[in-house]
Amino acid sequence: SFLATPADRLNGKHILVTAGPTHEPIDPVRYIANRSSGRQGFAIAEALARLGARVTLVSGPVALPTPTGVTRLDVETAREMAEAVAAALPADAAVMVAAVGDWHAAAAPQKLKKGETPPTLVLSENPDILATLARSPQRPKLVVGFAAETERVIEHATAKRLRKGADWIVANDVSGDVMGGEANTVHLVTADGVEDWERLPKAEVARRLAARIADAL
Ligand code: CTP
Ligand code: CA
Repeated sequence: SFLATPADRLNGKHILVTAGPTHEPIDPVRYIANRSSGRQGFAIAEALARLGARVTLVSGPVALPTPTGVTRLDVETAREMAEAVAAALPADAAVMVAAVGDWHAAAAPQKLKKGETPPTLVLSENPDILATLARSPQRPKLVVGFAAETERVIEHATAKRLRKGADWIVANDVSGDVMGGEANTVHLVTADGVEDWERLPKAEVARRLAARIADAL
């Protein structure tokens, strides 16, 4: 209801949200990408702004309009996303929803041409934006990560929370049709345990998470 979500609960708070995929170039015309529509992250940015937060949304390449009241910074690669996140600090909370590419290729300066043998991609690991932020001197009070898993969802998400130093992990099972869809089934993994949320529209997952963030700040 309107009364349950006053528009000033996050007034004066700056919240950083990452969303979308990253594109890691192979050559000037090709890239490696993660599967992500950006919808859940954009919905979270919008829900936080509706509670009065100043929201910086660092977005990979997506086909979505910028939510009202949100400052959007567009990036392409994981390394650009890491730089944009660092430049946007300080923040009171960070919600890292982006499907960040784990590796980048040594990009060829010119378009690769088809030949007798296909090219070999030499990959290097990208910076872990969430883990870096969670351990930085400018660590936001609340650091929330996402974990898209295809199996042993809770087990992987619980390990990820500890490994990355996040306060919360929102885990979702992506073995079904969640990618690009309107709904999401998530589990909120915190130091207190695991909450299983029912299957909800992404906008409702966003509203609930924003309300929880307001409680925590
Ligand atoms: N993440 C990040 N920077 C990266 C990789 C991931 O900030 N280079 C963030 C994502 O935005 C997400 C969380 O970390 O909030 C978990 O991402 P995920 O890909 O599930 O974790 P990884 O540690 O990369 O593990 P995996 O091997 O399962 O991909
Ligand atoms: Ca990953």
